[in-house]
Amino acid sequence: MEDAVELFEQLEFKENPLYEKIISGIIEDQYYIAEDFFNAEEVALLRDTLLKKYEEDAFKKAAIGNHFNEVIQKSVRGDFILWINEADAGEAEKIFFNKINSLVTYLNKTCFLGILHKEFHYAVYPEGTFYKRHLDTFQNDDRRKLSLVCYLNDEDWQPENGGELVIYKEENGVEVPKTIYPFPGRVVIFESQLLEHEVKLVKTTRLSITDWLKTR
Ligand code: OGA
Ligand code: MN
Repeated sequence: MEDAVELFEQLEFKENPLYEKIISGIIEDQYYIAEDFFNAEEVALLRDTLLKKYEEDAFKKAAIGNHFNEVIQKSVRGDFILWINEADAGEAEKIFFNKINSLVTYLNKTCFLGILHKEFHYAVYPEGTFYKRHLDTFQNDDRRKLSLVCYLNDEDWQPENGGELVIYKEENGVEVPKTIYPFPGRVVIFESQLLEHEVKLVKTTRLSITDWLKTR
């Protein structure tokens, strides 16, 4: 079935309005917020999967740097993360990967981005944590092109719960902070190498998946 779908896609390219909006957003603004990228049911499934793993204690304190260069620094970030391996995806994670891969295929077909690698991790920010202003690229690795953050919070998430993502964008030489609330189902996509950002102080446990789309 999947093969048939792929063949069909090759034969007849079908424009996807959501993906086109994402592409225009990134080109024009360096970021885009896709509302309801995941529906309520998908968010609930992914949230349950995350919480189960968190309760099993599979998460570790997040580090600054990449796998080869990890330094734990609580003064910079206080979240707990669990890397997700696509090959080990469970039921909920498969839905997640299908959607992300469909977007990646589209981006590669239409934008010549050459996304070859992906990295994913769950993140839990307990109350009182944050992630100070940073750029998602490392000194020894500049392959991260696009950062995607998918929020898995409860449906009744309120702005007062904190944990806003603030993206610092330059507009006509002036820095303009963009405040983005981590509402469930939302996916924020931004240029990893261009936009500094931070996660403000969290007042109620905040759940997400972060992905990076990378070139070779
Ligand atoms: C990150 C990050 C933002 C967010 O994990 O690098 O900046 O909103 N996350 O969770
Ligand atoms: Mn980041």
